[in-house]
Amino acid sequence: MNTIIYYFTGTGNSLKVSKDLSQHLDNTELIQIRQEWLSQKLFTDADNIGFVVPTIFSGIPKLVDQFIKQLDIRKKSPYIFVISNHGDPKGIGIVFEQIQKLIAEKGHSLAACFDIRMPHNVPEKDHLTTNDEKKRLFQEETIRIPIIAESIRKAELIPHKHKKIKNIFERMIYNGAYKSTGSLDKGFYANERCINCATCSRICPAQNIGMKDGRPKWKQDNCQLCFGCLQWCPKEAIQYNKRTIGIERYHHPQIKAKELFYKKFE
Ligand SMILES: Cc1cc2nc3c(=O)[nH]c(=O)nc-3n(C[C@H](O)[C@H](O)[C@H](O)COP(=O)(O)O)c2cc1C
Repeated sequence: MNTIIYYFTGTGNSLKVSKDLSQHLDNTELIQIRQEWLSQKLFTDADNIGFVVPTIFSGIPKLVDQFIKQLDIRKKSPYIFVISNHGDPKGIGIVFEQIQKLIAEKGHSLAACFDIRMPHNVPEKDHLTTNDEKKRLFQEETIRIPIIAESIRKAELIPHKHKKIKNIFERMIYNGAYKSTGSLDKGFYANERCINCATCSRICPAQNIGMKDGRPKWKQDNCQLCFGCLQWCPKEAIQYNKRTIGIERYHHPQIKAKELFYKKFE
């Protein structure tokens, strides 16, 4: 029995969840969902297939949508599960519905839906998580992971209960966010503290940041608004409009920036 876990992450929460889960399952491979993969033939013949994704604007990052669409699932009836990782108390949004639809379009079904709350990674005053709250969420994660692993080992069916009205509202948030903002990276800039280390460019899962004249340059076409660039900047030189100035930065304390770098840079 082997398991493959595909995770998308901006600030490491989904990677932490994926790594911890892999400790409780045999023969598990972790793959980061990144833009670079989309130029390749994507396929899997794993027995268990998992997707660990953050909720962004109530739904999945566009890159996750593209990745799953392109993924060729070769096993006849694999056990497919999703772990929604979210920052709000009930922040799953339409993540399960979206992935269920993508999987169904491939002729497969989603067997189990799990969720874990982690610290919120939007760098805004209203979304900051206190140290006590972080501690509590990290503890809850370590309790929850073995329970999820046990369900996966037993191939339990854990469907998600759709809430129609809530879904309509969340779908509006999701579609609105992607439509109205146009290019999501419009507000990013690096100030004079930038040391041209290119951490932001290497981390960006969407290949959306290049380096020009010693500073990052956002390409304005593929940003997922995961905030990885801003949150991992070692000099806190990156801001998003004015509202991130002076706001405490967050990334998962047990994940290192280089774990998120695209392999070719290592
Ligand atoms: C732009 C943006 C929008 C978000 N929207 C939601 C949301 O709608 N609901 C929610 O619960 N969390 C939301 N979050 C919080 C993340 O889902 C959460 O912090 C997650 O743990 C981040 O995981 P990562 O470190 O793997 O990227 C949002 C985060 C960002 C950056």
